[in-house]
Amino acid sequence: EAATVHEAENATISQGVVESDHAGYTGTGFVNYVNVVGSYVEFTVDAAAAETTALTFRFANGTTTDRPMDIMVNGTPLRSVSFPGTGPWTSWRQTTVEAALTAGANTIRATATTANGGPNLDSLTVGTPSGPDWSVA
Ligand code: GCU
Repeated sequence: EAATVHEAENATISQGVVESDHAGYTGTGFVNYVNVVGSYVEFTVDAAAAETTALTFRFANGTTTDRPMDIMVNGTPLRSVSFPGTGPWTSWRQTTVEAALTAGANTIRATATTANGGPNLDSLTVGTPSGPDWSVA
């Protein structure tokens, strides 16, 4: 199935701000997580049928400190994912995890687990990712 891109700026944001001051994002901007534990972005994604698929987060982290986040799928913790430094804030990378989705609407929440908050989050792609800048978490 074709991959679907969900822009973070259109998702549900708790303790984060939509910004556009660092080039290279897709859509109209990205989410700058507030630098606190617990800030999150939650996407609602539809699956035509129950499936295990790739969740690919596109992000930038202009610091040299990892900004790990806990990923929850439909309210169930999936795993922690590393969002390490990418170089400048204008350098975007993608990281992929596998997750099981149910038929219909699914929620995918990415919650910061350190006081630095999350990275700048551009998008979540559901389905097989593409492009040279992604890696498997
Ligand atoms: C800088 C940067 C922001 C980023 C923030 C952070 O202020 O311009 O885009 O979100 O650092 O450390 O989270």
